Amino acid sequence: MTPALPNLAPFPRARLRRNRRDAWSRKLVAENSLSAADLIWPVFVHDDGRKLPIPSMPGAFRLPIAALVDAAGDAEALGVPVIAVFPAVPAAKKDPEGHEALDPENLVCRAVAALKKAVPGIGVLCDVALDPYTSHGHDGVIREGYVENDETVAILCRQAVVEAQAGCDIIAPSDMMDGRVGAIRDALDREGFAHVRIMAYAAKYASAFYGPFREAVGSASSLGSADKRTYQMDPANTDEALREVALDIAEGADMVMVKPGMPYLDIVRRVKDAFLMPTYVYQVSGEYAMLKAAAAAGWIDGEAAMMESLIAFKRAGADGVLSYFAVEAARRLKAG
Ligand code: PBG
Repeated sequence: MTPALPNLAPFPRARLRRNRRDAWSRKLVAENSLSAADLIWPVFVHDDGRKLPIPSMPGAFRLPIAALVDAAGDAEALGVPVIAVFPAVPAAKKDPEGHEALDPENLVCRAVAALKKAVPGIGVLCDVALDPYTSHGHDGVIREGYVENDETVAILCRQAVVEAQAGCDIIAPSDMMDGRVGAIRDALDREGFAHVRIMAYAAKYASAFYGPFREAVGSASSLGSADKRTYQMDPANTDEALREVALDIAEGADMVMVKPGMPYLDIVRRVKDAFLMPTYVYQVSGEYAMLKAAAAAGWIDGEAAMMESLIAFKRAGADGVLSYFAVEAARRLKAG
């Protein structure tokens, strides 16, 4: 991919600092740029009437549906094209099979319907996975101690259809079951949702950086000391990520995603180069928490680190970024 470098004039004729000398000149030679249109904003919703801060994610909240709708209006006004809705479901509504996921009146469906009604111009993305709904915190159903693939896929298809019926624009399977993208595509098409897009969490790693998210949606206590390594990828692997992405594309994914973000920039680059697909990256909760914590301690300039982390994703080849910073960054971009 990289073209051969021309013979560079030797120093002192070549002085790479010349182009860096003035702000206008640095702008002129910038190879990548970040705009609000590159951002997808993940937001947590709950059925409680209050706006509840998430301690490990300063600046992020569990929002009641009404506040979520207001926040989506602000995001749209700032030019953020998509909001991703994550439900925090009370323990009383969870069971081992995640039945709540299939109720057309569940929290996420009501939130999506309210969003599409009040802020029709913003795209709405929903995860497909059972972890917000299962009492054990896994993304699928458990049979003989193993997260059962094919039975889970059948349930996920129904979950996707229920979300599409509520008005969801982008279905994002985050469960890492084999074969789910193709099955979900077929289910959506069969039910009249051929226009609903699929953004596959295609290369999703079994990562320690999801900790604050699991607190925010309330799956951490359900999961306990269990992990997701029988379905999410081993952080040691990179060729395998390309196979995961290739399969999801072959099964009909419209967009693919790499997750987490900053520790996996090499994967973003390989995926973009190999497939030339609309490619997204998820700057996950633990990454956000680290940056916020270091900034709060006064150890880094939080705003500068936020912007640097986001441009790094663009540089690595991402077309867009799911980030809890989305609105903060969009505000900063607008301010210039
Ligand atoms: C659910 C899901 C997770 C995240 C997004 N969707 C957690 C997990 O797989 O355990 C993580 C997002 C984040 O950490 O910000 N399958």
